Amino acid sequence: MQICLNQKDLSNWSGSVLVVGFLEKNLEKQLSVLEGIYNPELLSKYLKEKDFSAKSGEIKKLDILENSPEKVLLIGLGKPEELVLDDLREGAALAARASIGSEGIIGILFPWETFDSTMAAKAVAESIRLSIFKDIRFNSDPKPQKFPQTLQLIGLSETENNINKEINPICSGVELARELVGSPPNDLTPSALAAKAVEVAKEYGLKYKILERKDCEKNRMGAYLAVAQGSDLEPKFIHLTYTPKGEIKRRIAMVGKGLTFDSGGYNLKVGAAQIDMMKYDMGGSAAVIGAARAIGELSPNNTEIHFIVAACENMVNGSAVHPGDIVTASNGKTIEINNTDAEGRLTLADALIYACKLKPNSIVDLATLTGACVIALGDEIAGLWANNDQLAEDLQQASTLCGEKLWRMPLQKSYKEGLKSMLADVKNTGPRAGGSITAALFLQQFIDDDISWAHLDIAGTCWADKDRGINPAGATGYGVRTLVNWACNQITNA
Ligand code: BES
Ligand code: MG
Ligand code: ZN
Repeated sequence: MQICLNQKDLSNWSGSVLVVGFLEKNLEKQLSVLEGIYNPELLSKYLKEKDFSAKSGEIKKLDILENSPEKVLLIGLGKPEELVLDDLREGAALAARASIGSEGIIGILFPWETFDSTMAAKAVAESIRLSIFKDIRFNSDPKPQKFPQTLQLIGLSETENNINKEINPICSGVELARELVGSPPNDLTPSALAAKAVEVAKEYGLKYKILERKDCEKNRMGAYLAVAQGSDLEPKFIHLTYTPKGEIKRRIAMVGKGLTFDSGGYNLKVGAAQIDMMKYDMGGSAAVIGAARAIGELSPNNTEIHFIVAACENMVNGSAVHPGDIVTASNGKTIEINNTDAEGRLTLADALIYACKLKPNSIVDLATLTGACVIALGDEIAGLWANNDQLAEDLQQASTLCGEKLWRMPLQKSYKEGLKSMLADVKNTGPRAGGSITAALFLQQFIDDDISWAHLDIAGTCWADKDRGINPAGATGYGVRTLVNWACNQITNA
C-alpha cells in the first residue's frame, strides 16, 4: 500500500472511496467539507433521518453518486473533547473494513488539527493496513480480497517518504507475527519457526544461530529441555542479532515464549482450557521475530538487539516430564515441576539466563504465560512486570504511541513464598491466586540483578475472538509495534 499526503483538501479530489470523520458537536457545520459533493442542507436532513450523530463507532455509507467517488463513508469519531489517537485508529479500521472490495484510491479526511501530523498519519495508515489483513494461506481456493492500493490522507502535510519507510516494515512485522501465530501446530513446528527466523535474518542482514538439542545439553539447559523431552519434535533454540552501523550505545534483548503447541503435558489441559487454541502459545516468539523483521528493515542506529526464542512443544509421550520431576536450569538452580502445564516459564528460565550472559542493558520477555493474566486484564491489555521503573516507563510510552495496551503489575516479593519447594530450590507453580504474579516472580529468579528486565504477559492480547479495532479476528501480532518503538526510539537510558 502506497501512502500519500499531498492532497490539501477535498476540492478536485478523485478516488474510489472517500472517508470523512466527524465529531459529535456541531455536525452541521462540519458537513460543509462535503459541499462540493452534496448539498449541505439536504445532507444534514438526510443524516438526521438516518440517526447519524457522529458517535464513536458510527458509520454511514452514502448513496453512490453519478461520478467519482464510488463510495462515501461518514465515520463517527465521538466527542471532540475526548478525541485521542485511538479514536482515529478505530475509525480508520471501521472505514477500511467497509472498503474491502473497492480498488484504486481511498482518501481519508479526519479532524487532524489536534494531533501531531506524523503521529496521526502513522496511526491511521497502520490501522488501515492492519485491519484488513486476512490470512488465506490455508485455504485451497483463496480469493484474494480487493482493496485500494493507494491511501491518501487528505489535509495532512508530511514527508510521505518517511511515513512509507516506517509504516510498511512495521506492518510487515505485525503481519509476519500474525501468520506465525495463526499457523496450525502441524505446520509451525519448532523447526519451522527456526527456519522462518533464519529466513528473516538472511533477508535483513541479521546474524543468526540455532542451538540444537545437543548444544542445549552442553549448555545444561535442563529446564527448557525438560519441556521439550515429551515431544517427538526437535527443540530449536533461536538467537538472532541485529548490529547497527556505527557506534553501539546500548544493547538490548527480546525474549519470546515459543511453545508451538502446549497440551499441558501430563497436567493435560482439560475442560474450559481450550487445548485447541494452544497453537498460539508461541505468540511471544512471533512478536520477537516480527520485531526482528521490522527492525532489520528499519535499521535503527546505536542499539544492538538480540532476539531469543527457546522453541519447543509441550506434549505427552513415554519420556515426557512427570509432574514432580526435579530439573536443573543452566544457572544451576533446581526446579521441582509440580505442574507440567506451567511449561513456558521453564523454557524462559534458560532463555533468560542465556540473554543475561550477553550482558545487555535491558531484557524484555513476551509470553502467553498465564490464564490468570487473562482473568485479571482481559484480552485487550497485557500485563507488565519490571524490576526497573525507567524500563517500565519506556515500554509504557512505546506502547501508548502505537495503541497497544499495557498495565503495570507488581512483583510482590512476599508472594515468592508460594514458589517454595520442600526439595528443590524452587517450584514452577504457586497457588492459583495471583498466578500471573508468581509466574513473573519465577522468571525474575533467572535475571541478573544488575540488568533491567521487563516481562509482558500477552496470554490475552495475542488473539482476538472477533474483529476488534485494528485487529481482525484471529492472531493480533500484539507486541511487535511496542517492541519496535522501544528499540528504535532514543527515549531510553537502558
Ligand atoms: N500457555 C498457557 C497460558 C495460557 C492460558 C495462554 C490461556 C493463553 C490462554 C500456560 O502454559 C499455562 O498453561 N499456564 C497455566 C499455569 C498454571 C498451571 C500455573 C495456567 O495459566 O493455567
Ligand atoms: Mg501450559
Ligand atoms: Zn503455555
